[in-house]
Amino acid sequence: MPVRSQTSAARSSAASLPLNRVIQGDCVKNLAKLPKGGVDLVFADPPFNIGFRYDVYDDRREYDEYVKWSRDWIKAVRRVLKENGTFWLAIGDEFAAELKIEAQKAGFQCRTWVVWYYTFGMNVVKGFTRSHTHLFHFVKDLDRFTFNADNPMVRIPSARQLVYADDRANPKGRLPDNTWIYRPQDAPYSFRPDHDCWYFSRVAGTFNERQGFHGCQMPEQLMARIIRVSSNPNEVVLDPFAGSGATLAVAKKLGRQFLGFELSKEYVANIERRLKKVKMGDLIVGPENPAESSPATNRGRKLSSYRRRTGTLSVDKKTEDELVRCFLATAQGYSADFLLCDPKKNEEFVSKCKKAGIKGYPATYNQLLLRLRKAGRLPKASHRTERMVSNIDDYLACASEIAISLLEIDYNSSLDEILCSPDLAANLDYLAGRFAPGYVSFDYRWSALRVRKRATRARSQVTRQLLDKIGATPTFLPLDRAFKRTSDHSGIFLWKQGRQHLYLGESDDVIETVSQIVKSTSWGPSSVEPFVVLRRTILEKADVGNSRERRNALRSALLLTVRPQFNLSSLFPKEQTGV
Ligand SMILES: C[S@@+](CC[C@H](N)C(=O)[O-])C[C@H]1O[C@@H](n2cnc3c(N)ncnc32)[C@H](O)[C@@H]1O
Repeated sequence: MPVRSQTSAARSSAASLPLNRVIQGDCVKNLAKLPKGGVDLVFADPPFNIGFRYDVYDDRREYDEYVKWSRDWIKAVRRVLKENGTFWLAIGDEFAAELKIEAQKAGFQCRTWVVWYYTFGMNVVKGFTRSHTHLFHFVKDLDRFTFNADNPMVRIPSARQLVYADDRANPKGRLPDNTWIYRPQDAPYSFRPDHDCWYFSRVAGTFNERQGFHGCQMPEQLMARIIRVSSNPNEVVLDPFAGSGATLAVAKKLGRQFLGFELSKEYVANIERRLKKVKMGDLIVGPENPAESSPATNRGRKLSSYRRRTGTLSVDKKTEDELVRCFLATAQGYSADFLLCDPKKNEEFVSKCKKAGIKGYPATYNQLLLRLRKAGRLPKASHRTERMVSNIDDYLACASEIAISLLEIDYNSSLDEILCSPDLAANLDYLAGRFAPGYVSFDYRWSALRVRKRATRARSQVTRQLLDKIGATPTFLPLDRAFKRTSDHSGIFLWKQGRQHLYLGESDDVIETVSQIVKSTSWGPSSVEPFVVLRRTILEKADVGNSRERRNALRSALLLTVRPQFNLSSLFPKEQTGV
């Protein structure tokens, strides 16, 4: 997640895009209606001109006609992309050469030529079965594009982790080569994960993932890798040939804004149904039968827990003592959390561990530190960090909450795991900084920890009585009417985008917090009344008063009915409430 700034033109283009929907019609015409430079990532999987049977599109065009049409839509894609935007193109052998040249002529630079190798390919008469598709990774500007190399879900385990089960392996794993393989266990020697040929199974007819109405459905796992590496949470992903809606569904699950075009009315109706069924944070599915196909989601989860496990060395007493000594010498009386939140202090701690000859990586040392603390084997801090932190305000807390919520999904990692890895922690700063610019890393991280603590406490206070008091449909008022007759501006507010509920926040001064939010355009395109405030009668009925703690409990309870996208999952009430 590179640190970069968007131009204000790009921000306002993004703001005027028709987002989070699929539009029926021709993509060339529809792309022309969009503002210039508002999209972060385009993934296009056009018809390959091989006579495939689609609903309305005829996939057998004259050579010149197909190339000219491709030129037109590629140019249209380039116009809507931001200057630092990325364009991924999936294409078969027949027109890979032509389309690569057309894209380059349009001004794209080819950053990587990925080969996706798959099983269950289409049979070819008098020829070899199709088993690969080309995936061109184009960018507008070679010096400025998003490439999230540190995202743990983009990385793959190294041979040291996977083959040798060596617990000194770098827990970060490694980046895949440009041949993507999804079942290395099937071809341990032919498809090494560090090579440039990818291996994902196609979505075969028997797979649960299959939508059933479209023959060219992209696997969610593959789309997730592309979306994670080439865009950041809350950015805009566009698919001009939506097909089964795989790109859009995965973008939604990963907390991106999305937009798709599709010629067929029938496909559009099916995509809409698919999109309705998924929400941000849902698991990225994989084929169901691991014996016959690439790993299903549950196997993917095992992989990430494997990653986590390898992030922590099993240490002997001598190493543990050494690590505690390095911690005490660096922290100078402050806590382990303080050390994780302060990038300079953390660097100092890591370098001390290295000098002391402790084997491992920064994430390893930090995770070990947290493990020792959890086991009660770390001396208690003598200084209280709270006292020196004065500038954690409500606006910052909202931004941190949204950033953790998005990153926990994007990285499939907990806040602790994020803070333990210096690269991931820097990305947390970046993302929180896009929602609330102007703070230092320490503030974003410390506020994230506080938000998590408050969330856990709040959800534990949600009772059946509180839920009953709120009722089924809480009433929100437009911001300008909510505080007309009172000087007390504390309350709970809801950030909306059209009919979608994005974030339920709370503040001692809602008017002030919302005015800060509105200034920062990362909060996304605003509708006329993007922020509404919970009717005070409900606050009063729920006996919330001015206490932040009670307000947070109410916020937690309200999540069950309001169901916004961007709130922290740990703020949602536990099942015990009986709801
Ligand atoms: C290869 S499929 C895309 C499959 C998709 N990537 C998925 O995972 O399901 C190509 C799709 O493009 C659609 N299509 C063809 N021409 C189009 C156009 N001019 N505008 C929009 N969609 C078009 C076809 O109907 C078809 O569904």
